[in-house]
Amino acid sequence: MTSKTARQARRVASVPPIRLGINIDHIATLRNARGGRHPDPVRAAKLAVEAGADNITAHLREDRRHIHDDDIARLTAARLAPLNLEMAVTPEMLAIALATRPHACCLVPERRQELTTEGGLDVAGQVGTLTPFIAELKRAGIQVSLFIDPEQQQIDAARQVKTDAVEFHTGSYCAAAAADDGRALERELKRLIDGAEAAAASGLEVHAGHGLDYDNVVAVASIPEIVELNIGHYLVGEAMFVGLSKSVARMRSLMDGARESLRHSATEAKVGGR
Ligand code: PXP
Repeated sequence: MTSKTARQARRVASVPPIRLGINIDHIATLRNARGGRHPDPVRAAKLAVEAGADNITAHLREDRRHIHDDDIARLTAARLAPLNLEMAVTPEMLAIALATRPHACCLVPERRQELTTEGGLDVAGQVGTLTPFIAELKRAGIQVSLFIDPEQQQIDAARQVKTDAVEFHTGSYCAAAAADDGRALERELKRLIDGAEAAAASGLEVHAGHGLDYDNVVAVASIPEIVELNIGHYLVGEAMFVGLSKSVARMRSLMDGARESLRHSATEAKVGGR
């Protein structure tokens, strides 16, 4: 075995399961279009968990464009699954997190005019702000992840500010897949693979998300260091056609299938190496 294949075999030798977090923001977007209570994001969360989701993710934006404070309160009270609260690095959000105590907080950059979270958090540029912010969340027993681009400088800074996890922004990878641009796709996938190896090697848990769909998820779920994917918009869109339970179950099965193939190739590599 070459050293590269030996390293690859070691990476996949003990492949952990991969968690699926369902982002329910856009159930709230639809509800807010009419301003009533329907469709209810908490009901969606319940269905998603029944269909195989491990976590529920909700982004309480500063402008409250989709998820509202009351949704977070009801999700916390319902205790359906661990809640991952996505939020900006602001005193207001810190106070809400400390009062509601979700299982995890994912810190994201936020710009009011953006349609969605367009890029990763610049951790390297705000080490001084993030270090005490993260320490306070961790003291309250909340797991912290930072939504970053898969870049070495940001991974090093993430370690420096003592986060528990990083979530890689998969937007550029998904855009390359959608454009059917083979070279860009290869480059973006390599960034995710290298980033995941580097982050895991420095003791960080690795998550990923943004723009994932049935076609592009398998390559990401096949990166052994990635242990959680957070997916929303595509599954809520698909739910219009097949229902939320079916869209979540299909994503679950694609992710589990990717992990199964990895384990299989690890076993084959071991047998072949004998
Ligand atoms: N992870 C984070 C940190 C996000 O901000 C988002 C989008 O809100 C997602 C995952 C899910 O992205 P998408 O809705 O494109 O699946």
